[in-house]
Amino acid sequence: MIYRFNILSSTNDYTKKHIDELKDWDIVVANAQVKGRGRYQRQWYSPKGGLWFSTIVSPDFMTEDYGLVPIITGISVIKALIKFGVNAGLKWPNDIILKNKKIGGILSELVKNRIIIGIGINLNFKNELFNQELKKIATTIFSELDKRIPQEKLLKNIISEIQKNILLIKKERDKIKELWKKFDIFKGKEIEIISGNKAYKGKEYGIDEDGKLILNIDGNDQKFISGEIVSSKKQ
Ligand code: BTN
Repeated sequence: MIYRFNILSSTNDYTKKHIDELKDWDIVVANAQVKGRGRYQRQWYSPKGGLWFSTIVSPDFMTEDYGLVPIITGISVIKALIKFGVNAGLKWPNDIILKNKKIGGILSELVKNRIIIGIGINLNFKNELFNQELKKIATTIFSELDKRIPQEKLLKNIISEIQKNILLIKKERDKIKELWKKFDIFKGKEIEIISGNKAYKGKEYGIDEDGKLILNIDGNDQKFISGEIVSSKKQ
């Protein structure tokens, strides 16, 4: 069931509040959000024209595998976008990138043993709406490609991709790594990551079977469970 709203504070907050009434794979979508949230308690600018929605899954796999859900979601968003002619890529753990700028993000939250997956995509509005700071790091599909993507069609495509790809967590871990590599914009590049207030520099080798980022630092592989890639040398 799709619950559509004109304006919500945040689709994740609404889903959290109504979690007992909502079924798995129900969708809460808003034309605009006034308190959209990103990772690290950041604000998420969500004007009309974007795709802002949340859904819920109750995984039947082990809790230690929950971290793969946002990874799978990122892969699913990319696969759906490709069908609409948008060749976007992934920045670990799950930023959606087009022409080196962010066009989408994923916020997953564990509530009552269910996972709320929130997805935001800067779709059919111009990046001129962004403030100066945001403009440096983010853009919209409409600004980059000068075309409008049918919002609800994309939404349904993303959901069916997630429903399909989530099965890989139990069945085909190697396939997840492979798909990730295919879409990873930093594969084989020297990057810098901030994790636990420390900065690390190394060559990026994709993810392991748990979704951790692998960096080769001075000849040794080091894995990261969380963090943010802050820079990369163009190669
Ligand atoms: C990020 O990259 O920091 C994650 C951004 C997630 C934004 C989406 S928009 C729909 C859902 N509702 C929210 O408040 N946040 C997520």
